[in-house]
Amino acid sequence: MKILVFLNFFTIYSTILGQEFSYNGLLGPAYWGNKYQTCVGKHQSPINIVEHYVEKVTLPPLWFSGFNIPRKAMLTNNGHTVLLKTIGTDVPLITGGPLRDDVYAFEQLHFHWGENDKEGSEDRINNRSFAMELHAVFYKLSYGSYKAATNFPDGLTVLAYFVTVAETFDPTYSPLVETLPLIEDIGSEAVLRDNLILESILKTNQPSMQNYFTYNGSLTTPPCSEVVTWIDFKKPHILSHEQIEAFRRIRSAEGERVTHNFRPVQPLADRIVFENIPETSHDYSHGIPNHRNHHHPQQFAGQLANRASLPIIVIISLATVLRR
Ligand SMILES: *[C@@H]1O[C@H](CO)[C@@H](O)[C@H](O)[C@H]1NC(C)=O
Ligand SMILES: *[C@@H]1O[C@H](CO)[C@@H](O)[C@H](O)[C@H]1NC(C)=O
Ligand SMILES: [Zn+2]
Repeated sequence: MKILVFLNFFTIYSTILGQEFSYNGLLGPAYWGNKYQTCVGKHQSPINIVEHYVEKVTLPPLWFSGFNIPRKAMLTNNGHTVLLKTIGTDVPLITGGPLRDDVYAFEQLHFHWGENDKEGSEDRINNRSFAMELHAVFYKLSYGSYKAATNFPDGLTVLAYFVTVAETFDPTYSPLVETLPLIEDIGSEAVLRDNLILESILKTNQPSMQNYFTYNGSLTTPPCSEVVTWIDFKKPHILSHEQIEAFRRIRSAEGERVTHNFRPVQPLADRIVFENIPETSHDYSHGIPNHRNHHHPQQFAGQLANRASLPIIVIISLATVLRR
């Protein structure tokens, strides 16, 4: 196996010295507010989504662009979770749905899990916890960077996927799960053996991506900034027990296994959770609608064209579609 492994000592040291929160004891979720004021805010995540109380709406379709391109991908153990970043200048983009015409760029994805398969997700549905939850984090492109975007209420959006357990395993997770043994120590990083097609893990080509709950909330780790438009897909991913077990072997700053890393649910307060009911079932594969709503994709392309830093390939693929 030709997997590259790096031990990044700078990351290890800065992570250990900067160890400022945990999921246990005196650095645990109940105490985050002592150090981070925002963690006791009114619009925190996660929440329990009660289906009986959600408001059904029909939002514009969510559009995905550039997820089907193979990219070099790096997996990191940051002591709290397993985090995946893609390497390269072009970046997958989303717009539509609750994001309306705003374009958001992929930053990273990571996971939350529990001690056993009965718990682990952060948001709950009707008080049900899932074994794991995948978060794909995006920042609003017009703010220029992830860091800058965290200063604005509409700065981030997170695509959340619940994970249930079955006898079968999800082969699209295999490249990632196979790399986990190489990053069991905090601060360690490894490049996935093969370039990763994000579409295969994030299922962005599937019509089920239009069925989701959405609400305004926060980061679920300190500083708990209330800057996240949450999009929680109704259709869960299905992993095997063994696939999830591999995540539970990574080690934290204390050298212990990270057996659970989900924050307890927070009060909904005055917020409304929306459920998107798609108008019709079109094929949104590659995120490009091909026979309706003509003004919207042009706006999307217009916004894209204004950004010099934008991946040429996305502009080309949009241009191709618009010419149809
Ligand atoms: C939700 O689940 C938690 C933990 O499983 C439990 O303590 C709580 O009572 C439940 N709440 C409701 C409303 O069922
Ligand atoms: C969610 O936040 C966005 C951005 O701040 C805002 O425009 C929108 O009205 C909020 N939605 C709800 C339902 O509060
Ligand atoms: Zn998360």
